[in-house]
Amino acid sequence: MLRKRTQVGIVGAGPAGLMLSQLLYRAGIDNVIVEARSRAYCEARIRAGLLEQGSIDLINEVGGGERMMREGMIHDGIELRFDGHSHRIDIKGLTGRNVMIYGQHEVVKDFIALRLSQGADIMFEAEGVRLEGIDTAKPVIHFEHGGSPVELECAIIAGCDGFHGISRPSLPSEKVTLYDHPYPMGWVGALVEAPPVHHELIYSATSHGFALFTMRSPTVSRLYLQCRPDEVIEDWSDERIWSELDQRLAGGTRYELPKGAMLQKGITEMRSFVCEPMQHGNLFLAGDSAHIVPPTGAKGMNLALADVRRLALAAEDYLKHGRREGLDTYSQRCLKRVWRAQHFSWWMTCLMHTFDSHNAFDKRAQQSERDYVVSSEAAARTLAENYAGMPWSWDES
Ligand code: FAD
Ligand code: DHB
Repeated sequence: MLRKRTQVGIVGAGPAGLMLSQLLYRAGIDNVIVEARSRAYCEARIRAGLLEQGSIDLINEVGGGERMMREGMIHDGIELRFDGHSHRIDIKGLTGRNVMIYGQHEVVKDFIALRLSQGADIMFEAEGVRLEGIDTAKPVIHFEHGGSPVELECAIIAGCDGFHGISRPSLPSEKVTLYDHPYPMGWVGALVEAPPVHHELIYSATSHGFALFTMRSPTVSRLYLQCRPDEVIEDWSDERIWSELDQRLAGGTRYELPKGAMLQKGITEMRSFVCEPMQHGNLFLAGDSAHIVPPTGAKGMNLALADVRRLALAAEDYLKHGRREGLDTYSQRCLKRVWRAQHFSWWMTCLMHTFDSHNAFDKRAQQSERDYVVSSEAAARTLAENYAGMPWSWDES
C-alpha cells in the first residue's frame, strides 16, 4: 500500500484536469492527477477543436500556448448554410473577439508535456478509482497503480473525470438535481486527410440533415454529420459518409469537397446535462463531469476551462489564506456561464438540425428563426456573442 498526500487531488487528465493542475502549480499549490487511461490514449482522443478567445488567453497566460499560437488557426467568422444558401456571420466584426481552431488532443498533448517538464505527478492507468470521505477535511482517492493499492489523501478533490467518471456518482444523490435533455440524433465525426474546402467553418442545414465542416490543419479536415441516435459507426461506410457530405455540404454549390484517407471516425451522442450543485463537502466537479452540451455550439472544452479557472482561484484562497467563500460559492458562480452555454447549445442544435418529430408548424417556426439570424444584425450579434464566448468579466461579479 502506497500512502501519498497532496493539497489538491485531481481525477482525470482531460482539458479540465490538466489546466487545473497547471493553474495550481503556478499558484504554488501541490497537486496530483489520477488518470484512468494511458498517456498515449489521452493524447490520441480526437474531440473538440474550437477555442473561445477567453480559452486562448487562459492557455497563453499559464504558459501553455506556444505551439497553439504557431499551429492554431484564428477564425473571424463562420458560415451558416441553409438549403445551399450561404450566409457569413462576422464573429469578429460583431463582437471584437476571435475563435481559434486547435484540436483538443493537441491541448492535452501540450499540457501533459508542460506539466511533466515541471515535475508533475500524473498517475496514468490508475485502476478502480474511488473517493472516500468527501464530507471530511481529508478526503481520499483510492486506486491501484502498477498493481499496488494507493491512498491519496487530499485537502480538496477536483472531479475532472468527464461524463462517465466516478466523481459525479460520488455526490450524495439526495443533494443534487440532475437536468437531463437527450436529443433524437447523434453526430458521425470523421477526421480526413484532405485540405479544408473553405477557410472558415461551415454549419450546413439541409433536408438530409445537418453537416459541419471544420478542420485541424492545412491538410486535415474534420467533418460531422447528423445521424439517427441508434446508429453505430459500422452503419457509416466511408462511401456513405462522403456521399452524405457531398449532399449536405457541397451539392449544387461552389464547394467541391476534397477527398482523402479517413484517419478516424466515430459516433457521438447528443445530450444536454447539468448536475446542480457541482460540489459537495470537499469534492468539486469541473467540466464534463458536471455538465455536457451538444457539440453544435462548440462550448464543452471552453466551459471545462472556465470551471477550473474559477476553481483554482477558490482553492488558492482557501489553501493559502483559509478563506472558504470562493469554494462555497464555486458551483453557484459557475452555473451562470454553464446555463448560458446550455441554452445557446440547445438553441444552435434546434436551429441547425432536422427533427423527425417536427410538424408543419415547427418547420415554419424553425425556418423563420433561420431567416431571422441571417437577416437581423441583432440576431446575428446574439449568436456571435455566445459563439465567441462571454468574456470573463461577464460572470465575475
Ligand atoms: P474529458 O475530456 O472527458 O476528460 C476526462 C478525463 O478523465 C479523461 O482523460 C478520462 O480518461 C478520465 N477519467 C474518466 N473516468 C475516470 C476515472 N474513473 N478515474 C480517473 N480518470 C478518469 N467542446 C468545445 O469546447 N469545442 C468544440 O469544438 C467541441 N466539439 C466537440 C465535438 C465532439 C464530437 C465531442 C464529442 C465533444 C466536443 N466538445 C467540444 C466537448 C469537449 O470535447 C468536452 O467538453 C471536453 O473533453 C471536456 O473536458 P473534460 O476535461 O471535462 O473531460
Ligand atoms: C468543432 C466541433 C464543433 O462541435 C463545433 O461546433 C465547431 C468545431 C471541431 O471539432 O473543430
